[in-house]
Amino acid sequence: MTKRYLFANWKMNLTEDESVDLAKKFSEASKSLKNTTVGVAPATLNVSATKKAVGSNLLVGTQNVYYEEKGAFTGEISIPMLKAAGIDFTITGHSERRNIFGESNELVAKRTQKALDEGLTTIFCIGEKLDARESGKTNDILAGQIDALTSLLQKKNYDNLIIAYEPVWAIGTGKVATTKEIEETHAFIAKHWKDQTGYDCPPILYGGSVKPDNYAEIIKVPLVSGALVGGAALKADQFTKLMEISEE
Ligand code: PGA
Repeated sequence: MTKRYLFANWKMNLTEDESVDLAKKFSEASKSLKNTTVGVAPATLNVSATKKAVGSNLLVGTQNVYYEEKGAFTGEISIPMLKAAGIDFTITGHSERRNIFGESNELVAKRTQKALDEGLTTIFCIGEKLDARESGKTNDILAGQIDALTSLLQKKNYDNLIIAYEPVWAIGTGKVATTKEIEETHAFIAKHWKDQTGYDCPPILYGGSVKPDNYAEIIKVPLVSGALVGGAALKADQFTKLMEISEE
């Protein structure tokens, strides 16, 4: 079986104590996993305490990272800061960063490229909005998001890269893409990546209303290497169940 991944994106939820508590539960549950790498991305304020609480048992990451090392960039965090705190990974380009906070393909690509250059595992999120899906523009949107990154990358960057395909209309809505839509879209991403770079595509996760009752179907879809999970990752019983499904 190919390696699988399960990442929790806690977004702007949970206090420090709550983050530590939930991460400890995840860490305990993940001990028996043989084929699934599990990670959590708490709010930035809680990342350090969470990492200290779980040690090497669970990957802990941030929900974003900036490409400059230090300076006058109010509200941002840098890669040296993450490394000093022992942080294992970062997410970049989440649709909420792109759509609520206006991050462009170019800005997301620069954040991602720098994190990869510094050897940080990076979950690079891409996804289309509903109007793009309905008007048949999904592949164009995804290609634009991917091309902004591949134009900056060198081969050495690829090892630490994970792509997360998250249709914006499926995030936090309870509306899941069909397995056919997921299969077709992951196949497009993998092919486009290879066409652009000449190399095999990194693992691709699916994200968007992943829950215990739909994950068994999703994880069986070709070219799905795991999931990036929001809502269901805030509940210990649901996320633990996703871990079990991942191992089946
Ligand atoms: P959701 O969020 O599981 O609540 O849809 C997924 C995400 O935003 O990564």
